[in-house]
Parts: sequence; C-alpha cells; structure tokens
Amino acid sequence: MKLLFIGDVTGSPGREMVRRYLPRLQETYHPNMTIINGENAAAGKGMTQKIYKQLLEWGANVITMGNHTWDKKEIFEFIDDANNLIRPANFPADTPGKGMAFVNINGTEVAVINGQGRTFLPAIDDPFRKMDELIAAAKKRTNIIFVDFHAEATSEKQAMGWYLDGKVSAVAGTHTHVQTADNRLLPKGTAYITDVGMTGPYDAILGMEKESVLRKFLTSLPVRFEIDKNGRAQLNGLLVTINEKTGHATDIERIMINDDHPFFS
Ligand SMILES: [Fe+2]
Ligand SMILES: [Fe+2]
Repeated sequence: MKLLFIGDVTGSPGREMVRRYLPRLQETYHPNMTIINGENAAAGKGMTQKIYKQLLEWGANVITMGNHTWDKKEIFEFIDDANNLIRPANFPADTPGKGMAFVNINGTEVAVINGQGRTFLPAIDDPFRKMDELIAAAKKRTNIIFVDFHAEATSEKQAMGWYLDGKVSAVAGTHTHVQTADNRLLPKGTAYITDVGMTGPYDAILGMEKESVLRKFLTSLPVRFEIDKNGRAQLNGLLVTINEKTGHATDIERIMINDDHPFFS
C-alpha cells in the first residue's frame, strides 16, 4: 500500500499546485490513496465546502486540518457531513467534526488520524492520550493507520513519533511549513518525518507575502499578512509504503517540487 501525503496546501497558489501536480505524482508513484492537509487551503486560513469538494475531485481521499480549522466560519455548516474531512482529534469534547476517518481502498481499510500539539499552540486536550484512545478503536478495523500530527515544536513531534512507534504506520508532522530532512523508519515499523512542508507560495515566508512579514519584524507594528500570489509556487509531500498485513511502513520518501528542485517524470 502506497500512501501520498501533501503538506499544508496554502491559498490559491497551493491549490493550483495540487491541480497541476497531483495527476503527475499519481502517474509516477501510483499511490493507492492521497491525503492532503488543507488547513490553509482557503485564502491561507481554513476550508470552504467548495474547496473541500474540489480537493476530493482532484484525487484526495482524506483532508486533514490543524489550528486554522475554524477560520472560515462556513466550516460549521458542512463539517458534520464531510465524511472525509478530519480536524485535530484532541480538540475539546463537543467540538464539531471528528478526528479520525476510515477509507476503504479496494477492500483494504485505512484509518487517518489528525492530532495537534500543545507546545506554542492553544492549550487543548492531551494529544498523546487521545492517540491511545483512537488507535485502540482503529485497530479493531485495520492495522494501517496514518497520523498527521500538526504541531509547532520539533520535540513534541519527535516525542509523538517515538510514542507511536510500532502502533501506527506513519506519523507525519505538519504546521511549520518547512520540510525537514529527517524522514526515517523508526525501529518498530513506523515511518516518521518532523514536517512534510507546505504547498503554495515559494518566494514567500511560510506562504505569506514576504514584504508584509518583513514589515512586522522590522517595526513590530500590527500587519495584515496576505497570501503571496505573485511569486513562484512549490509542492511538498511524502510517499509512504506500508505492508498491508502488519501495518508497518517499509519506506518513506520526501517529495519536494519547486524551481530549485524540479519534478522530472
Ligand atoms: Fe499550515
Ligand atoms: Fe497550522
């Protein structure tokens, strides 16, 4: 089982990269399923129903979210009906939506879990204990479990990787928007990367127009950040190969497409 994951799709430049490159990635790598982190897909913050449906049409099986889940208010209208959209599972009880989704890929079930860290992010429920709970439920149905752990601190992400080693197929970090080069197989069979990186503006700062971010650093004045729509774009992702019987990963490769690392196929 091959699983393609695309990191934080940011604004229209990010969506355009998915539209353009997802078919080529599928032709080249033949993933059995595709997961997209879409927390920044709508103008850099949140998700709309139209974009959710568009990402599924383009080939995504599951969309994961993060700290920007609630930024577009219309999500409250459709999240409970959006079977393939998940938000961090450790958001407090009574939060709309869900944190785990099951998809059936040609008769094989795959569980996808979204979690969020608490270091330098809002104080939500314990993501580690929440993972125990969801993994116990998932294991009744499948051994193939993919975790998108949306977190700021590299230490918290590594901790989650080690905590879940041997219990899930992969732990992929998102949120910091910069791809880390530490993709590896942990000893008990879990694929791990601290951050997959983002998909969207390339000549920008984490996807935002760089002049406004610079103004903030130089003056400390309140500055409104906008998506950079004028520069080049990039796509960052991950390809994980999983043994369907054991649920253990056998390979984890990074995908980076930009003008400095062009995609050849
Ligand atoms: Fe993000
Ligand atoms: Fe985030």
